[in-house]
Amino acid sequence: MEKRVGVLTGGGDAPGLNAVIRAVVIKGEKLGYKIIGIKDGWRGILEKDVCELNVDKVEDIHREGGTILGTSRTNPYKVENGEQKVIENMKQLDLYALIAIGGDDTLGVANKLCKKGVKVVGVPKTIDNDLSATDICFGFDTAINRVAESIDRLHTTAESHHRVLVVEVMGRHAGWITLEGGMAGGAHVILIPEEPFDIDEVCRIIKGRKAKGKSYSIVAVAEGALPKGDTKFFAQEEGTDAFGHVKLGGVAKVLEKEIEKRTGAETRSVILGHLQRGGSPSAFDRYFATRLGLKAIQMVKDNEFGKMAALKKGELLSVSLEEAVGKMKAVSKELFGEAKVFFG
Ligand code: F6P
Repeated sequence: MEKRVGVLTGGGDAPGLNAVIRAVVIKGEKLGYKIIGIKDGWRGILEKDVCELNVDKVEDIHREGGTILGTSRTNPYKVENGEQKVIENMKQLDLYALIAIGGDDTLGVANKLCKKGVKVVGVPKTIDNDLSATDICFGFDTAINRVAESIDRLHTTAESHHRVLVVEVMGRHAGWITLEGGMAGGAHVILIPEEPFDIDEVCRIIKGRKAKGKSYSIVAVAEGALPKGDTKFFAQEEGTDAFGHVKLGGVAKVLEKEIEKRTGAETRSVILGHLQRGGSPSAFDRYFATRLGLKAIQMVKDNEFGKMAALKKGELLSVSLEEAVGKMKAVSKELFGEAKVFFG
């Protein structure tokens, strides 16, 4: 009898999820496994909501955004007897092992389950690109391309109207999308969570541009960026999700008002939000996510449980889940220094 391996996608979706699923199914069948899709991340295991996958079902899905399995931020450790339920339901569903595709929240759950004997392999996913155990996460490349393209478009309208445009980008604690998307798009100021900003300095840069005859400016700001001395996020609403995250959003609007007041320049703001995550993955993300899927199912075959597929210095290898969820990858002062060369 062929062994049944479950695959789930948890947390915020990222372009490339379907490419991982496709690779797991196509190679999985060749290795003799039956791949079972688990719906909506950990929710599907808790509620035994699953579906059988086969090559026909996944043939072309690598070109599509989102995830055919659905996703959620369900945390089994916030559900009564959640851990026990996952373990029991895996037995009832006859699942030999699990491939969990997710960021630090999803992989954090995977890591805890591993310690209870569940056979789990992780695949790193987050458009935020903030997992330290891998050089890059799939989804990030598509996201920064979208940010750069959006900033390109903002240049023309900002210049025509002689305005300041503040563009808010995803990234709660890490500014990778803002840094790389902002530099690629040619933002004149970049504000990230790792480097608290000084609003006077931001306005000085904008006024300096005006003095040089540049009638417009683009400010790229991460949703988690904070003014110096402040520790409270610009949260959209009260409350948190099952992993304790507040819903962010609004720093661009605050900056819009402050910049207009302090510089006298007409200012507008735009929040890119989920446009950064939706839609078809870039060629890089399709290819990279495919390779991660191939690696993950090979890790199942090789009994490499409690580990995550990762890219390090160009090589695809496995790292422990403990290491994967242990530390966030932040933008260094050196890299931010490179961005600052172009401020103004
Ligand atoms: O998962 C990462 C992320 O894209 C963050 O950058 C962002 O803050 C969050 O997801 C948004 O989550 P949601 O889809 O729940 O609004």
